[in-house]
Amino acid sequence: MTENVSASGLMPWFARPGARAWRCTSAPAEVRTFHAALPDYAPTPLTELPPMAAELGVGRVFVKDESCRLGLPAFKALGSSWAVHRVLSERVVSGDEPVTLVTATDGNHGRAVARMARLLGHHAHAFVPQGVHPQAVAAIVAEQAEVTEVAGPYDEAVRLAAEAAAAPDAVLVQDTAWPGYERIPGWIVEGYATLCAEIDEQLTVAGIVEGPDLVAVPVGVGSLAQAVITHYRSRPSGRAPTLLSVEAEAAACVLASLTAGEPVSVTTADTIMAGLNCGTPSSIAWPFLHRGLDAAVAIPDADSARAAADLAALGVYAGPCGAAALAGLRAVLTGRGAGTRRTALGLDPASVVVLLSTEGPAANPHSTTGDRP
Ligand SMILES: Cc1ncc(COP(=O)(O)O)c(C=O)c1O
Repeated sequence: MTENVSASGLMPWFARPGARAWRCTSAPAEVRTFHAALPDYAPTPLTELPPMAAELGVGRVFVKDESCRLGLPAFKALGSSWAVHRVLSERVVSGDEPVTLVTATDGNHGRAVARMARLLGHHAHAFVPQGVHPQAVAAIVAEQAEVTEVAGPYDEAVRLAAEAAAAPDAVLVQDTAWPGYERIPGWIVEGYATLCAEIDEQLTVAGIVEGPDLVAVPVGVGSLAQAVITHYRSRPSGRAPTLLSVEAEAAACVLASLTAGEPVSVTTADTIMAGLNCGTPSSIAWPFLHRGLDAAVAIPDADSARAAADLAALGVYAGPCGAAALAGLRAVLTGRGAGTRRTALGLDPASVVVLLSTEGPAANPHSTTGDRP
């Protein structure tokens, strides 16, 4: 085994030397063309934050700001738009009656699925676990979706959504996979590739043609991380960056799985990082997380709230999940054992860091800081 836990023993942290050398095949190129043809499509900003580079002791820091993606305040519509397109193109062959797109959601994914259903003349039914902010639930209802609130955690909402999707003319569009349900989540992961392609282009414009040295990714079930790993571990050229996953301490199923060496479920608790509040890694993400991820860390809510406030002071408005990327990198680079962890991440004073801010404050109003003025 090559993995190790922080020498301090205090920090919920995992590192796998050698992950940068792992390789996989790339996502299909037509995803980008599909998104580019959507009426609301525009690349989201990649904003450079020099004060953050100074604080973190690296060369340049960029934030990929997903606070407005395809008209919604989180990155998730990239995955659901492509997956729903694939699902419906298959159904055209079998009939064109309206279908009900069923999903479980911590907020953002369900809102994106409901938006797609409404735009395309179909129905949506979202199962929402406890702990999702009422405004996030209201935003799904506003997309004309039926909402069932579940008195249990995310994994329970997924189970109920899968049961409901067994009805005629219903299709489960879930952003996590398990044995026997992997094709549609696979399309959702493919959809996220557009975000990475945009980063490459934007870094090139900023004079960085080799790509980043480190990318920090907020993680719930690991589907977004799977897309990021796929992108950076399948590139024919350019440097292989260090990939860092950041989870909520209340729901660190990927960190627990990496530590155990196999996928495990954890009991989750309340967190302001609602989109990260998932207890089980996606089955199709696991091989990528296991082999291609360099490091994983888990952070408490207070760190995410502080990161959101600090980003807002620099003009980048992030919700709690979006701010988690900065909070995670800060956690790794400070405190006991920080020097060892910096070395494990391969960071030096010239390194280029990209933080994925996956949602804006409007996606998840749990945040009391970082709100857009
Ligand atoms: C804003 C936000 N960031 C990150 C994530 C994590 O994505 P994944 O569950 O694919 O790891 C989610 C998931 O819902 C999310 O809503």
